[in-house]
Amino acid sequence: MEKVTVFGAGNVGATVAFFLSHSLELEISLIDIDGDKARGVALDIAHSLPVLGLSSRLEGGSDPGLVEGSSLVIVTAGFARRPGMSRSELSGENAKIVRQIARECSVLAEKCIAVIVTNPVDEMTYLFWKESGFTHDKVMGMAGVLDTSRFLYYLKTVAGLDPKSTRAMVLGTHGDDMIPLTNWSRHCGKSLEEVVDGKALDECIEKTRGAGAEIVSLLKSGSAYYAPAVSVSIMARQILQDTGNVVPVSAYLTGEYGIEDVFIGVPTRLNRKGVAEVVELPLSERELGDLRRCASRVRKRVGEILV
Ligand code: LAC
Repeated sequence: MEKVTVFGAGNVGATVAFFLSHSLELEISLIDIDGDKARGVALDIAHSLPVLGLSSRLEGGSDPGLVEGSSLVIVTAGFARRPGMSRSELSGENAKIVRQIARECSVLAEKCIAVIVTNPVDEMTYLFWKESGFTHDKVMGMAGVLDTSRFLYYLKTVAGLDPKSTRAMVLGTHGDDMIPLTNWSRHCGKSLEEVVDGKALDECIEKTRGAGAEIVSLLKSGSAYYAPAVSVSIMARQILQDTGNVVPVSAYLTGEYGIEDVFIGVPTRLNRKGVAEVVELPLSERELGDLRRCASRVRKRVGEILV
């Protein structure tokens, strides 16, 4: 049975383990500094499987050695935003945690693929890549699938577009300047700019950008976890089942879109190798300009973390 390790048994990590164990047959390790919590969550999830005839196996604990033998590692450990906080404000606290996990993975699971969820995700993904010494195609961040799903939700609820007939994508950073594509995205073959009036489209974009913060302010402690967990599982499926499907993830760029040396949300072809290809969409000049501006901002923030 293929092994996946989830670092962090908080809401996101627990829900990722729950959803993955129900959607694929896997051996899942859950690692948390609070070993009992990880053991408790793993046991609780394991109890949900027999009655459904499912046979994933789960174990939990605080021992980093539990990661050994994993093909895929998912990093959710870290602090979540508190109401009023931006994701970038978590850099200091979460960098230490991500650095340590990257070092553990480089020793104990040097052949795995890593999906980073810890915020600020584009910066933490770069940090994990640097610290682990993994090749860049083996490391990626989760945000584009989540932001795209939220964008589709608002296109439906604000503008009435059926997600089944809408092809959309959100690129750039997982932050206030994320880029929901309005020209490239299509509804029944027409660009969103053609089928949604300007005011409604702006509302969809603003709501998508603010979705994470809205949930943080409603929950009061902790951030979103159901939609993030499903988004991670979608990425895991493309990797473990070697699909080669195109999904937006935070990937390392080496000149694609005229951008290099930064992890940022772009469409990628995912398979067992990790990021098999960064797909270059024919973006409008405005979309491309926005993506390049996002990349410069992320690169600057990464520079501040690495000093
Ligand atoms: C959110 C977290 C995952 O957007 O950043 O809810």
